[in-house]
Amino acid sequence: LEQVIALFQPKVLANQRVLITAGPTFEPIDPVRGLTNLSSGKMGFAIARAARQAGADVTLVSGPTALQTPCGVYRINVQTAEQMHDVVMSRVNTKEIFIAVAAVADWRIANISEQKIKKDIHGKVPTLQFVQNPDILAEVAALPNPPYCVGFAAESENLLQYGEAKRKKKNIPLLVGNIGPQTFGKDQNELMLFDANGQTYFPRANKHELARQLIAAIAARLAPHHEQNSNTLQSSL
Ligand code: CTP
Repeated sequence: LEQVIALFQPKVLANQRVLITAGPTFEPIDPVRGLTNLSSGKMGFAIARAARQAGADVTLVSGPTALQTPCGVYRINVQTAEQMHDVVMSRVNTKEIFIAVAAVADWRIANISEQKIKKDIHGKVPTLQFVQNPDILAEVAALPNPPYCVGFAAESENLLQYGEAKRKKKNIPLLVGNIGPQTFGKDQNELMLFDANGQTYFPRANKHELARQLIAAIAARLAPHHEQNSNTLQSSL
């Protein structure tokens, strides 16, 4: 069924190699506990599916989720931000497009306990120390010959202001903003795209539909001349 659905999708990313991160990361505290976030992975998986249906060769680096791998997508599972970083950096050189959808933990625990931390240590509460994780997207964007980089921003307020600031800070051509609490775990979302030309709003819709619109928007930005030509062609028909 997935292959039949794919047949009807325009192949706007034919022959493109796409690397996508998705889901949360999980940063261990001890062998039974850890820190994570509310990302479900649904948006990233929908984008992987849409890119595949658009003809791309897709590698999906996923944090812990219970989601099924989209048909035809090559998936690598990771747990921590450092693991995600290492997998991305070892594979990104051969890719034309990098889409960072994962909600990567900004910090990991510096003093991970080898054994389960016990509660009955004379009423004392454990102290956690944090160390900052590598910023995968910023590192990829800073490569000498980077792929086309698309970032995500999950904010809880001031999306218009934070979105454009984040795009500039990470030095990427396209950033996709959404409101985290309104989308985490849900099947629907609404997106605001930020690029050098301004903002584009994608109204609330199913994540699969939004993923297709986003893939079309990326393809149009990668091949603006091709887009213009096909518009000219359409208007002359
Ligand atoms: N990202 C990443 N590696 C990190 C942190 C974030 O690749 N260590 C990517 C995310 O996948 C997303 C984008 O960067 O595409 C924005 O992530 P976000 O957490 O919203 O931004 P931060 O730079 O961490 O800013 P802040 O948390 O302060 O809003």
